[in-house]
Amino acid sequence: MNNLTINSKLPAVGTSIFTVMSALATEYKAVNLGQGFPDFDMSHELTGLVNEAMNKGLNQYSPMQGYMPLREVLAEKCASLYKTVINPGTQITITPGGTYAIYTALTTVLQPGDEVIVFEPAYDSYIPNIEVNGAVPVLIDLQFPGYKIDWEVVKQKLTPKTRMIMLNSPHNPTGSVLSEDDIQQLRLIVKDTNIIILSDEVYEHLIFDNIPHQSMLRYPDLLERSFVCFSFGKVFHCTGWKLGYSISSPVLMAEFRKVHQFNCFSCHTPSQAGLAIFLKNKDAYLSLGGFLQQKRDYFQQLMQSATKFTALPSYGSYFQCYKYDRISNESDKDLAIRITKEYGIATIPVSAFYKAGTDNKVIRFCFAKKKETIDAAVERLRLIGL
Ligand SMILES: Cc1ncc(COP(=O)(O)O)c(C=O)c1O
Repeated sequence: MNNLTINSKLPAVGTSIFTVMSALATEYKAVNLGQGFPDFDMSHELTGLVNEAMNKGLNQYSPMQGYMPLREVLAEKCASLYKTVINPGTQITITPGGTYAIYTALTTVLQPGDEVIVFEPAYDSYIPNIEVNGAVPVLIDLQFPGYKIDWEVVKQKLTPKTRMIMLNSPHNPTGSVLSEDDIQQLRLIVKDTNIIILSDEVYEHLIFDNIPHQSMLRYPDLLERSFVCFSFGKVFHCTGWKLGYSISSPVLMAEFRKVHQFNCFSCHTPSQAGLAIFLKNKDAYLSLGGFLQQKRDYFQQLMQSATKFTALPSYGSYFQCYKYDRISNESDKDLAIRITKEYGIATIPVSAFYKAGTDNKVIRFCFAKKKETIDAAVERLRLIGL
């Protein structure tokens, strides 16, 4: 025995409900609509391009900022989708995933005591990432059940210490999306301030019903104060690749790279080389929204037979939430655990996305699944509460 101790930087962090639900799903051989990743195969054209890159010998370190042909094609995508000119040399950095890009942006900016506005429910890395930097999350609930931002509350929560505002559209876990009106409100709030925006856009192309994605990249006045974070893993059905990128102004990106340079330094070269070619075909990303919209529609349509569940809207991401208050009064966590054990269907309780565990009796389903998986899931869900 020795007397080694660590003064934990994250004393409140324990095993998350995601780990609990995944373990239960395996134990009870449940159909798993909890996990936020696809169970279908990714593009073989893309895996082929990555193999080719490896076979051609592209197996050494890429530049710290990322493989240049990939950054160039991303800048072209940005010009074509958002009509914004991005300099691939100074404004884009390839990262090992979206989460890393978010963590790096927060670490680049935050000083102890700084305040960061976070909307809940929130992706689970945000709050620990803020706290590990000694900064303070200022939590604001999205308005239930539409999960929209109440900008009046945002104004009330602003203080001289407000350093960042974190946004996520399309949103995990709710599938809500930012509107043009949200952008106007945001503009008014940040104008003439020192506030930096962190915009988590990892579900960028997964937006439905012809709604335009309100990327910060559309708005040069917002982009100059934003870190916009993306994930190839999320949009191209290869979450295990852990590859993403961040786009910002040259000034902010220079600081971001100082942190990145001494952390991961550079990312998997063959994947970047494969993506650089794959992304030249615009259809590679323009087809994604329609593909996932079909899955959402299929899931929603089948779920009409699970009459005790009430659908909440999903306009993007690959998540769909349902209220279950006509089934029971249990907490969402208890219900999620019970239906995994009793009915063999795994989901995620939305209270897990609130620091205080706010429970609106809502569970999240991931519909980025094969038809067979969705069919098997709904077969079980329709028996609940009968
Ligand atoms: C909102 C949100 N941001 C970021 C990520 C992480 O992306 P990556 O796997 O590229 O780190 C996820 C993954 O679930 C997410 O839902």
